[in-house]
Amino acid sequence: MRHLRVPNHKVEDTLDRMKSEQWLAIGYRVISDGDDNHRLLPISAEAPLELPGLTPEYEVVDVRGRADDRPSSDWWKHLTEIIGEEEVALYGESWPSNHEFIGDIMIVRIDEALRKHTQPIAKAKMQSHPHVRLVMEDNGVQGELRIRDLRPIGCRNGEEILTSDFPSHLLETRVMVRESGRSILCDPRRAYFSTKLQTERLETLALAKELRSMLGRSLRVCDPFCGVGPALATLLGEPGLVGHMLASDLNPDAVELLFDNLRRWDRRDYPIEVKTLSRIHEDRIVGLADATELHEDPDMVGAWDLLLVNLPHRTLEFLPSLVQLLDRTAPSMVRGRAIVAESEIEDANETLRNVLPLRLQGTPEPTLKIKRDYSSTLRLCSFEAWIAPAS
Ligand SMILES: C[S@@+](CC[C@H](N)C(=O)[O-])C[C@H]1O[C@@H](n2cnc3c(N)ncnc32)[C@H](O)[C@@H]1O
Repeated sequence: MRHLRVPNHKVEDTLDRMKSEQWLAIGYRVISDGDDNHRLLPISAEAPLELPGLTPEYEVVDVRGRADDRPSSDWWKHLTEIIGEEEVALYGESWPSNHEFIGDIMIVRIDEALRKHTQPIAKAKMQSHPHVRLVMEDNGVQGELRIRDLRPIGCRNGEEILTSDFPSHLLETRVMVRESGRSILCDPRRAYFSTKLQTERLETLALAKELRSMLGRSLRVCDPFCGVGPALATLLGEPGLVGHMLASDLNPDAVELLFDNLRRWDRRDYPIEVKTLSRIHEDRIVGLADATELHEDPDMVGAWDLLLVNLPHRTLEFLPSLVQLLDRTAPSMVRGRAIVAESEIEDANETLRNVLPLRLQGTPEPTLKIKRDYSSTLRLCSFEAWIAPAS
């Protein structure tokens, strides 16, 4: 998570400024930098990349955010009022103190043992977060389209909080999310989207800028698992970075939302109806497509400088056909994510290096970096690979 590194004597003023601009991440703590002279202020995912008046004077650093789950926080107070101290104490750490916001929707994972307390959990969460309109229980992403299995457990009806018998008009899940100063239309019940990938997207932006400097021109970017397009939102926000672009997905609902997003980010016309992959503008190929079939189209092969591979449970399997899309007359890059058992990371690194073309001299070996736990044994990892031109 991004934090602003501020000298101790400037913390109060900076906090006031960040609150008034809505740049401060809600639900996260200010943490010590370790040098005793600075504090790290958590930056909201919605804040722009540059914070006028604060950056570049203060450095932005990426460190793990510390959730504000102190016992005095509102949610515990409300929960205790509803079910009593004894019951709260009984389940200790199992209570869902973390959650994810997607616009005004809150998404919560509930431990099996706490299912019977789902209604009090939803009520206490809504009482402590007055901007939340809908609370949904998250049962994880499902199937090839990686859509979350979400179930409404609380919603607001005017002043009233409902925890059952929800009228359908209060369950709208199509929402606009602000990230890095951009608006992303998404619908977590119809297409994959996660706010937790913002740091990943910023790292991709930094790598893409490096590749641009190396090539001395804008990039041809290929995002064949693009979902509603959040990685492209960040890249398109950098002037002169994206030249030609391919954006496709297998999920028609994701493509419909993507067209809507591109209309705003790219300031051009895009179709209202979902279309199969086609050249919408001279430099924009967008639409519905199976990424595993792209290498069968001669126009797509050897046409791209930067390839994004974000289908973590199948990345290693799909890479051999996808790398054919890279332009091998100059350096290029693959940026991807993979889910791997911690005990098998070394083997997966070996596989990754075997399926990728030769690495560009002077760049690091492609290596899976653990980003977070996916389950008790599996880890969600990311990698970047600098690819040499074919000799
Ligand atoms: C983990 S999501 C990532 C979406 C997007 N890149 C993001 O960061 O939000 C993976 C996406 O791949 C899509 N997908 C799955 N199999 C696919 C395939 N064979 N071809 C194209 N897209 C596919 C899913 O519909 C989903 O939107």
